[in-house]
Amino acid sequence: MQCDYFDAGVCRSCTLMGTPYAEQLTALSGRTREVLGEVIPPEAWLPAVANTESGFRNKAKLVVGGRRGAPTLGILDGSGNGVDLRHCGLYEPGLAEAVLAFADFVGAAGFTPYDVGTRSGELKHLILTHSPNGELMARFVFRSEGQIRKLADRLGELPGNTRVVTANLQPEHKAVLEGEQELVLSEQTQLPMPVNDVVLQLGPRSFFQTSTPMAARLYATAREWVAGIEPTRVADLYCGVGGFAHHLAAPGRQVQGVELSAAAVESARLVGTPGVSFAVADADRLEVPEADLVVVNPPRRGIGELAQTLEGSGVERILYSSCNPRSLAADLARLASYEVERARLFDMFPQTEHAEVLVSLRLI
Ligand SMILES: C[S@@+](CC[C@H](N)C(=O)[O-])C[C@H]1O[C@@H](n2cnc3c(N)ncnc32)[C@H](O)[C@@H]1O
Repeated sequence: MQCDYFDAGVCRSCTLMGTPYAEQLTALSGRTREVLGEVIPPEAWLPAVANTESGFRNKAKLVVGGRRGAPTLGILDGSGNGVDLRHCGLYEPGLAEAVLAFADFVGAAGFTPYDVGTRSGELKHLILTHSPNGELMARFVFRSEGQIRKLADRLGELPGNTRVVTANLQPEHKAVLEGEQELVLSEQTQLPMPVNDVVLQLGPRSFFQTSTPMAARLYATAREWVAGIEPTRVADLYCGVGGFAHHLAAPGRQVQGVELSAAAVESARLVGTPGVSFAVADADRLEVPEADLVVVNPPRRGIGELAQTLEGSGVERILYSSCNPRSLAADLARLASYEVERARLFDMFPQTEHAEVLVSLRLI
């Protein structure tokens, strides 16, 4: 893939930009296997699942810079000035169109971009998520409440496929994307995300996998691997809006999702799959889950104290989906009573060295 922003040196987020995609994937597989070499035997690896090299991201996280009437949407440079990346090639085609339309909207509405140097201005970030249905969730991150009325008055000027609109408040002068407070301005609060035969629901502050087609392959692979095991009780820990849990539902099977975010659990429950329930809890500190199969899909840091709990639990099977091979390696080393049956790399983040790995474990 070729990128003008990369070639001009204005954005270096895609560290592998310019390397042919097949080469990237081979190198990524090699590095991932090396990091996991002590804990995953070579024969357990299935071929990596390739993505498309461009147009794969479902979410744009845009820093708003520039001037009132002439905003930049992209990142900030080393001096805190806005760098416009509105033509970034990583976005799904529908999202790419949306970024351009929202850039025009921000300019025409006259929102004043926040300026890091002088700590003045109002609009800090714009976060757009695009669904496979072609619908959008748009989150405007403001410094203060002052601009919310103005946004609410102009909802009719947003692209017609905008389903959810929110104003998030991030009053502090620090480099975080969003604040704790979020006001939904649209009638709808959820973006439906059809993935395989499941329509997940996504609320504003919940996690969703970066690339929807890759998420579909990940959940479908989990379903396929679990079909050969036929567990009657499944626990999906760090379940987010329930991607694994809903895909693993089956007649005669109870699936319980566990997640720290109450908002994500609320979204997960809206799907209403029979036999699937959700609880808000800290998965790190759970007692031994009552399940024949436990799915874990933790944040980058890994599963923390839960590794020790699972190690002594007698749970027959574990499916571990990880976005960080290093914490995965450390956690698998602590799960010494389990052997790795299968492992597969999913290229969720092309053009970067990040890897998503799914591993199935069996109690020895
Ligand atoms: C990588 S995401 C995976 C979400 C989901 N499995 C999916 O496929 O979309 C990790 C999730 O873990 C949640 N989380 C973080 N720490 C947690 C904890 N201690 N207990 C439970 N959930 C936690 C986050 O809110 C996030 O939804």
